[in-house]
Amino acid sequence: MTRPGEQSVRVAVIGAGAIGRAVIGALQAGRLPGVEPVGVVDDRRTGDLGLRQISLAGAMERADVIVECAGRTVIAQSGPAILDHGVDLLVTSVGALCDPDVAAALDTAGPGRYLITSGAVGGLDILTAAAAQAPFDRVGVTTAKLPATLVQPWMDAAAADRLRRTTEPVEIFRGDAARATRLFPRSLNVAATVGRAVGDIGLVEVRLLADPEAALTRHVIEAEGPCGSYRFEIANLPSAQNPRTSGVVPHAVLRSLSVLVGQPRGVI
Ligand SMILES: NC(=O)c1ccc[n+]([C@@H]2O[C@H](COP(=O)([O-])OP(=O)(O)OC[C@H]3O[C@@H](n4cnc5c(N)ncnc54)[C@H](O)[C@@H]3O)[C@@H](O)[C@H]2O)c1
Repeated sequence: MTRPGEQSVRVAVIGAGAIGRAVIGALQAGRLPGVEPVGVVDDRRTGDLGLRQISLAGAMERADVIVECAGRTVIAQSGPAILDHGVDLLVTSVGALCDPDVAAALDTAGPGRYLITSGAVGGLDILTAAAAQAPFDRVGVTTAKLPATLVQPWMDAAAADRLRRTTEPVEIFRGDAARATRLFPRSLNVAATVGRAVGDIGLVEVRLLADPEAALTRHVIEAEGPCGSYRFEIANLPSAQNPRTSGVVPHAVLRSLSVLVGQPRGVI
């Protein structure tokens, strides 16, 4: 409930896909008290969401906070303008920050703030704390997904078909986050988020496995440094709406939003 004298925080959402729809549904249901959903931005017709579809310019005028659940091009093309307009931005397409130019443009924009949701990954709190004590020496993120979700437009038909039909796990990429983001742009959100948590995206070695048995999307995060050694293994159920996205992500976005609007609950 909004306390007397407090104004509600006006929130617009960009992207009414697997994540955005669930976020909008929760906001419409009043799951975050004191948050008023003011509109949804999408480059396709959103249909009946019970929330009016508005332009990005309209969202920047009406909202205190914009929640991005659309794609990395939105962050690259519109993120700095949103912040310069004085609107806060919650970023879900964190892979966009693997591009140093995009990261620099966001870092220098304002007075709006940008924050990154934890999304599909956890353990970021202790990685951030340890990196503040001393830089890590080694950080790795290994992601195993269903092969079809890793097929890319640049693959030729034979390679894409081989990947779809593989009967055993195959490593399809190993290297730094910058290269991975160019080749597998939709599979880099977790590596980029870990990179931000440890304060150096260039430190993250990325491994991508295509695993036909990966009913759950698995991420293994390993970090070693003077402060300690950390290993987290996460297995998320893919979203029924979009198998490239984990079903937990909209709930992580709502949790991040509750912190951003000053209403944290439980463990922070
Ligand atoms: N941080 C994480 O851990 C994490 C996890 C999963 C997905 N993601 C990212 O979140 C984003 C959304 O994922 P999703 O599964 O909901 O995707 P989705 O494809 O189901 O939905 C995306 C929606 O955004 C809209 N959209 C795309 N480009 C747009 C633009 N330029 N302007 C306005 N609307 C636009 C689409 O029309 C669609 O409705 C993706 O970038 C994905 O990579 C992040």
